[in-house]
Amino acid sequence: MKKIILENIKKFIFNYTRFGAPSYSYNLEPIQLSEIILSIEKTKELSGSICEIGVARGMTTRFICEHLKLLNYKEKFFCIDTFSSFEKEDIDFEIQNRQKSMEELRGFSYNNFERWKKNFENFNFVKPIKADIKKFDFKLISPLKLVILDVDLYKPTIIALNNLKKNMVSGGIVIVDDIKNNHAWDGAYQAFNEFVNSNSYNYRIISTKCGIINF
Ligand SMILES: C[S@@+](CC[C@H](N)C(=O)[O-])C[C@H]1O[C@@H](n2cnc3c(N)ncnc32)[C@H](O)[C@@H]1O
Repeated sequence: MKKIILENIKKFIFNYTRFGAPSYSYNLEPIQLSEIILSIEKTKELSGSICEIGVARGMTTRFICEHLKLLNYKEKFFCIDTFSSFEKEDIDFEIQNRQKSMEELRGFSYNNFERWKKNFENFNFVKPIKADIKKFDFKLISPLKLVILDVDLYKPTIIALNNLKKNMVSGGIVIVDDIKNNHAWDGAYQAFNEFVNSNSYNYRIISTKCGIINF
C-alpha cells in the first residue's frame, strides 16, 4: 500500500513539476570522465597511487570512487585541494599578467575540509590532503600512476606539472582540465602548452578541453 502511494506521488512530481528532470552535475565533460576510467584501467597493473588535484566539492572524486569501489581498489586515492578556493598570489598573477579580472575568477570559497572529509569517510582509499599544490612535496605520496589536475590557473598548473615529473611512474598518465584558449581558466591551457613544448612526453588533447600527458 505504502509503495503504491509513493509511486503515485513520484508520478505526480514527474508529470507536473521539473523536480524529476535529470541534470548533469559534473564540471568535466562525459569524454573526460570516460578517459579517467579508461586511464584507471590502463594503469591497473602499474604500482603507484591515483591523485586528483583540485577536487572542489568532490563530484569527479565521487565518480572515480564508484569505479574504484567496484574494482575493490586497495591503493590510495589522494585528493588535494586548498579546500578554501584559489590562493591570492595565483589570482594576483592572473590579474597582473594574464588580463583576467577578480570577478571572473571568483569561486569555490564555499568549501570546507572537515565537511569534505566527512562526505568521503566511507571510502577508505580516499586520502584528502589540504595544501597549496605549489608548495606540496609530491615525494610524500609518490610514486603516482594517474593524476587528474584541475586547478584552473597558470601558476598552480605549471608548478604542479613540473613537480610531478620526478614522481610519476613510467607509463603513468596526467589528465589536465581546461586545455582551451580564450576563457577564464586558460591559465591551465598556457601552462599545459608550455610544459608539453619544453618536455618530450607524448600528449594529446581530446574533445574541447582535455589534455592528456603520457609519462
Ligand atoms: C575547477 S575546481 C575542481 C573541480 C573538480 N576537479 C571537479 O571535477 O569537480 C578547481 C579547484 O582547484 C582548487 N585549487 C586552485 N588553486 C589551488 C592550489 N594552488 N592548490 C590546491 N588547490 C587549488 C580550488 O580550490 C578548486 O576547488
